[in-house]
Amino acid sequence: MIPPALLDRLRQARHVVVLTGAGISAESGVPTFREALTGLWARYDPLELATPEAFARDPELVWNWYAWRRELVGQSRPNAGHEALAGWPARFPRFTLITQNVDGLHQAAGSREVVELHGNLGRVRCSGAGHPVPDWQRLDGAPPACPRCGRLLRPDVVWFGETLPAAALQSASEAAADCDVFFSIGTSSLVYPAAGLVEDALGRRAIVVEINPAETPLTVHATFVLAGPAAGILAELTAHLAEQDG
Ligand code: OAD
Repeated sequence: MIPPALLDRLRQARHVVVLTGAGISAESGVPTFREALTGLWARYDPLELATPEAFARDPELVWNWYAWRRELVGQSRPNAGHEALAGWPARFPRFTLITQNVDGLHQAAGSREVVELHGNLGRVRCSGAGHPVPDWQRLDGAPPACPRCGRLLRPDVVWFGETLPAAALQSASEAAADCDVFFSIGTSSLVYPAAGLVEDALGRRAIVVEINPAETPLTVHATFVLAGPAAGILAELTAHLAEQDG
């Protein structure tokens, strides 16, 4: 059930910002990170797989773990939540979609402009100079060498201890500081700086809507809490918005 007061606020909204996390892709079969039992960090140690030190220590292990995740995502399809959000730019005067996900499922659903805070599994870059390398061979085993300098290629994702891509963080921060409605969807709201964006929005008195089946540190601060899986809630919300248009 979508609160009518939320639909009213959305009808008047000038700039809607959406921040998504792993939960938006959970119904596509992509594992989240922090959920007990099924979360990736319940089964794997991030310090051994998702840090620059881990890559320096054992590049093959890290490369293959990301190759496995890339394959998993390759078998996944966007769900009704990604699809609903792909239509939102047409519904509001201004709309910004920010994601912490590296799975590319928003783009696969048709979202054109996605601010990717943590990179994208589908891309690789040089572990030395950092330049993107568009042509590389998808082989298992050791990471391929950079065609320009011979250093190892690495996934173009943000690892623990690394800074976020500056342009993406700036776009996200500007959008959060400018919006009048901020949606936090499928994220545990624990990882900064992404988790700080909603704090900026709250500070500017934006309406904050959380969509998540579980409570997070944001829940008590949210203006509206839609407790449940994102796909059905976003489909329902979008259907209401479409009714208003008609
Ligand atoms: P988490 O795994 O921390 O949180 C996933 C959230 O999704 C939880 O709050 C779940 O309750 C919620 N969730 C699960 N199923 C859902 C569903 N069907 N609909 C809506 N919500 C659902 O994932 P993130 O918050 O995305 O960073 O994690 C943030 C960052 O931590 C990731 O980007 C990754 C990780 O370490 C890097 O790899 C740099």
